[in-house]
Amino acid sequence: MAELKNDRFLRALLKQPVDVTPVWMMRQAGRYLPEYRATRTKAGSFMDLCKNPELACEVTIQPLERFPLDAAILFSDILTVPDAMGLGLRFAEGEGPIFDRPVRTAADVDKLFVPDPEGELKYVMDAVRTIRRELDGRVPLIGFSGSPWTLATYMVEGGSSKEFAQVKGMLYDRPDLMHKLLEVTAQAVTQYLNAQVDAGAQALMIFDTWGGALTPRDYQEFSLRYMAQIIAGLKREADGRKVPVVLFTKGGGQWLEPMAEAGADALGLDWTVDIGAARARVGAKVALQGNMDPCVLYASPERIRSEVAAILAAYGQGSGHVFNLGHGIHQHVNPEHAAAFVEAVHQLSAPYHQ
Ligand code: CP3
Repeated sequence: MAELKNDRFLRALLKQPVDVTPVWMMRQAGRYLPEYRATRTKAGSFMDLCKNPELACEVTIQPLERFPLDAAILFSDILTVPDAMGLGLRFAEGEGPIFDRPVRTAADVDKLFVPDPEGELKYVMDAVRTIRRELDGRVPLIGFSGSPWTLATYMVEGGSSKEFAQVKGMLYDRPDLMHKLLEVTAQAVTQYLNAQVDAGAQALMIFDTWGGALTPRDYQEFSLRYMAQIIAGLKREADGRKVPVVLFTKGGGQWLEPMAEAGADALGLDWTVDIGAARARVGAKVALQGNMDPCVLYASPERIRSEVAAILAAYGQGSGHVFNLGHGIHQHVNPEHAAAFVEAVHQLSAPYHQ
């Protein structure tokens, strides 16, 4: 494997010294880029794109050709795992994800199984291998998965949801069933992430997009606990280097202390917490990734710069910060504003690393 030419992302996650603060953007390969839309049209649909390793590699690299990002993230989706568990995923235009066979009953839960990452999910591992080869050591490659709780919301609701009526109904009425579902999903995620490391992923991120919808007690019992179990089962070294793990619970700002105990190297932050305050709470234990409101990218490049400056100042001196957005980049953002964001992070952060 080619030597890594830029390892500041991995170094920052391990709180090792860096020259400038590394930066990448959640959903950096996506619809705000015209070249992504062109490749998706060529592929046919979003899932066809995910299942085609050459085209998935192409869109993974597209944002790196435009911006000097410090990491690449595998182009895929968190819902590949429940799809491989037999739920029948499709993306209806304008409607988001839909599962044809949602999990609603004890019999449905009993039918769930741990998919073979090199079987049903081989297309993901092929994408990881292809991307690693094409990156040729430019920047590290991030592999990822959804958290069991976040995957469960889609598996039980059958798609996106605002109220979580079905999945919370199951959680409150049949906690035994919910735990069974989460347990098999946690095993599936552990194997899936380990296979990504074997295929070449150099860091891992767990997306708990809907953990923040839970009560504090339920967050610990139904989300955090399973993420800690997954992290305990992960391979943490590859090519003689540590494979850092980032844990991101959207809306998890009030739970940073217990999150920092889950075994991850870094916590992802959304924009509702002050990153300086977050560092004071958990800084000795974990690095932090985040946390500019993605909507700032709708404002002018000058305003984007001042917001980057404020977040860098709030984090303060020293390593342990990976700059990112607090959630995925929106599809109507002007790519030139994303360029201004990345440039501002590199230009304005050097004084914090002297
Ligand atoms: O960050 C990246 O560039 C890597 C790619 C990535 C995608 N999805 C591509 C995608 C990653 C890391 C994800 C994770 C994901 N997927 C999450 C967790 C992160 C988050 O955003 O909270 C979730 C909840 C999903 C589920 C999902 N996938 C939904 C709800 C949707 C539809 C939403 C929408 O904006 O339409 C997707 C589709 C999706 N995943 C797209 C992309 C680029 C848009 C699909 C398209 O091209 O039409």
